[in-house]
Amino acid sequence: MRRPSPETTAATALAARYRAVRDATTRLAAPLSAEDCQIQSMPDASPTKWHLAHTTWFFETFVLEPSAAGYRAFDRRFRVLFNSYYNAVGKQHARPQRGLLSRPSLDEVRAYRAHVDAAVQDLLERDAVDAALAAAVELGLEHEQQHQELILTDIKHVLATNPLGPAYRTALPAAAADTPAPLRWHAHDEAIVEIGHAGGGFAFDNETPRHRVLVPAGALASRLVTCGEYLEFMRDGGYARPELWLSEGWDAVRAGGWSAPLYWEQRDGTWCAATLAGERPLGAAVPVCHVSFWEADAFARWAGARLPTEFEWERAATGVEIDGNFVEQGALHPLPAAPGAGPGPAQMFGDVWEWTASPFVGYPGYRPTAGALGEYNGKFMANQWVLRGGSCATPRAHVRATYRNFFPAPARWQFSGIRLARDAGR
Ligand SMILES: [Fe+2]
Repeated sequence: MRRPSPETTAATALAARYRAVRDATTRLAAPLSAEDCQIQSMPDASPTKWHLAHTTWFFETFVLEPSAAGYRAFDRRFRVLFNSYYNAVGKQHARPQRGLLSRPSLDEVRAYRAHVDAAVQDLLERDAVDAALAAAVELGLEHEQQHQELILTDIKHVLATNPLGPAYRTALPAAAADTPAPLRWHAHDEAIVEIGHAGGGFAFDNETPRHRVLVPAGALASRLVTCGEYLEFMRDGGYARPELWLSEGWDAVRAGGWSAPLYWEQRDGTWCAATLAGERPLGAAVPVCHVSFWEADAFARWAGARLPTEFEWERAATGVEIDGNFVEQGALHPLPAAPGAGPGPAQMFGDVWEWTASPFVGYPGYRPTAGALGEYNGKFMANQWVLRGGSCATPRAHVRATYRNFFPAPARWQFSGIRLARDAGR
């Protein structure tokens, strides 16, 4: 019997991973009707149908077109329709108008997925899967996982916008603890630390080059900020005190009429929040989420603390097991920190993306990937802030200590929350 070469084994593993990731996307969309999949509730949030098609477009454009000789496009018009922001590929359908596409139908988009899946599987079953092809497939899978999270955050916005308060899924576990674990501080000394991807395994270009950073002495909170603590900030006039806010944040409060995190509503004196299981009373020990960078920063100032830099966060997360409340857990909502004192800060991974005090810029010596894929991250390195750690909507295998998510300061529809930090001597 002929033994498979290492390249064949690697290609087989990649094909299996391709199927698993693509199937996971299909499962996420399964509870949704065609009408659900059609809606775009705001310019930032795309319809599920668009996500299903765009992730497929990514493989068609960056894997099949360059590598699959004789590949026939499912529909050439999709090249523009489902291009998100790649100017090097060509024109794009306007982002705020994605919800106006009643055609192609959801069934046609599913057929598009099947067409591309068959072609990619065929490609991966050939003998010659070179490093460039494997890297393009790997990037497509990581990209698809990013869109899996967006499917959940975007449909949450769609459903929360509906006065009927529909649920994505009803059988979600309720938070158990009413009392949060006590907040403690984990101090660190001043040190020069290595930051960024060290090689081995996948990383996005924005996680490189690895470089040295001086991290001053300080401390990180042992857990995330809870809804109960955030309510104290609100009751102390947090949204009415300009001295707590950065100037643009205060403008956002007034312009948006903000008086609570996104999705919070008061019902007969009780604060409730929309979840993917419909509206539920707030859990005092549940990590607060759906706050903007402005709100995270104002809360930290009110608490006599600050947001961590991405570097002190990464230093604390390095070597920590990537375990926590990820999408696979099925909670689809942040959960209270487990009681008990671990050796380091808890909830570093999963639950909520943690806003940091670090602007999203390239690391020293950063160079975007060559070609159209150089547009993936590099061109967004202005006016955005870094978030770390993954959320309850993130696939577990997608996150690592060096992972840099980024959103503009006003963004609230992601599962974004707060971990406090403070300087030494406080
Ligand atoms: Fe995308």
